[in-house]
Amino acid sequence: MPGKAYTKKNPFLARIARQYDLTSPQAPKRTVHYEIDLRGSGIEFTPGDSLALQPQNDPALVGAVLEQLGLRPETPAGENGLKPLGEALLSEVSITVPGRRLMEALAQQDPRGPLANGLLAEGKNQDLQQYLWGRDVLDLLREHPAARFDAPTFVATLGKLNPRLYSIASSLAAYPDSSHLAIAIVRYTSHGRARGGVATTWLAERVNSATPIPCFITAGKSFRLPEPSDATPILMIGPGTGIAPFRAFLQERKATGAKGDAWLFFGETNRAHAYFYREEFEGYLQSGVLQRLDTAFSRDQEQKIYVQHRLLEHGAEVWRWLERGAIVYVCGDAQRMAVDVDNALRTIVAQHGGRSAEEAAAYVQALDDAKRYRKDVY
Ligand SMILES: Cc1cc2nc3c(=O)[nH]c(=O)nc-3n(C[C@H](O)[C@H](O)[C@H](O)COP(=O)(O)OP(=O)(O)OC[C@H]3O[C@@H](n4cnc5c(N)ncnc54)[C@H](O)[C@@H]3O)c2cc1C
Ligand SMILES: NC(=O)c1ccc[n+]([C@@H]2O[C@H](COP(=O)([O-])OP(=O)(O)OC[C@H]3O[C@@H](n4cnc5c(N)ncnc54)[C@H](OP(=O)(O)O)[C@@H]3O)[C@@H](O)[C@H]2O)c1
Repeated sequence: MPGKAYTKKNPFLARIARQYDLTSPQAPKRTVHYEIDLRGSGIEFTPGDSLALQPQNDPALVGAVLEQLGLRPETPAGENGLKPLGEALLSEVSITVPGRRLMEALAQQDPRGPLANGLLAEGKNQDLQQYLWGRDVLDLLREHPAARFDAPTFVATLGKLNPRLYSIASSLAAYPDSSHLAIAIVRYTSHGRARGGVATTWLAERVNSATPIPCFITAGKSFRLPEPSDATPILMIGPGTGIAPFRAFLQERKATGAKGDAWLFFGETNRAHAYFYREEFEGYLQSGVLQRLDTAFSRDQEQKIYVQHRLLEHGAEVWRWLERGAIVYVCGDAQRMAVDVDNALRTIVAQHGGRSAEEAAAYVQALDDAKRYRKDVY
């Protein structure tokens, strides 16, 4: 079957061919390199694309939900009686993010629970969001102990378990049979209970080399290497797992012998514990695939140093690259990093391009309009 035919409804069942930690055990969080074996799939992708993985929920969390509800895993969960409840909770529905239908059912069934206290009323969205922050389906069930469901009704209150996207960190030109991923494992404690991201803890704890990994490609749309000219300079800003697509870009440029200059900004917590793909990137610098490589290790000194600080430090040079027609790529955290990098670019244009704040904003907007400012942020 050709690669394009694999979709959310009809994913390819891949295996993990290889994996290793990108972080040392002393790093504040774990990030893992995965190589997904795509042999036999015919799947093709372009640097800038993502691989979507369909995960499974944590069986321990499924067990706790069933126990709270007093339901058995083998109870049929669908009207046709085919799907056992335990299986549905494991692989079909989201048991972490509570949806509106569940909240309404809980408010109705347990008048003493917090959701029956007007939190679902119009105009109360901010209070509701505050209540929901860090709470999952199990928390809500425990806080509404009077609520009782039969299996099909409970499943119907839950949303679908959605696939998670990961920027592909390799090029088919370098690795024809696989797709590499750099994945930060999500773990945190909330309301006194240790929690994990669904897909990342599934990969880190419950998947082995024999486990089928349902996956399919999602296109990166405009997050592409320069077209048509490979002589266009590129400026890549990718802290954390934001580095992933740039590894793919550089592997591709190495394979095609692209002529344009390339400058990479990478940031992580510590040089000694979280310098992802260090040897490979330093090798690109030596062989001329990269012209510049700047790093920002935020926790190696008292003051935080982030990628945008490095951009500002090298503002005059960044400005020259912009004026030479460079394309700016940003990948990684949307909420804080991408906003701060955007501000840094405006500051650079104002300072080194002699523009007012308004003109600098218009310059950056014009970069965006001309598809010379491309973001893949999440
Ligand atoms: C285009 C795209 C590309 C991506 N590429 C990558 C990539 O290359 N590498 C990568 O690692 N990720 C990437 N992501 C993110 C990835 O898709 C997942 O969102 C991520 O791995 C988390 O998935 P999960 O199922 O483990 O966590 P989920 O189960 O989805 O849980 C995450 C949620 O947990 C909650 N949460 C997290 N921390 C806390 C906290 N401290 N307190 C309270 N609540 C908290 C938040 O609500 C958060 O949204 C990408 C996303 C997109 C859209
Ligand atoms: N939706 C999800 O479920 C999910 C899951 C995983 C990741 N993410 C998002 O994806 C991002 C990427 O995660 P990641 O593990 O790859 O790395 P990350 O958390 O973004 O951290 C990478 C580096 O960026 C630094 N940083 C923090 N704030 C910054 C800022 N405002 N500007 C620039 N750099 C900043 C960090 O420093 P310090 O930590 O020392 O401050 C660290 O050195 C996360 O921040 C998170 O928002 C989302």
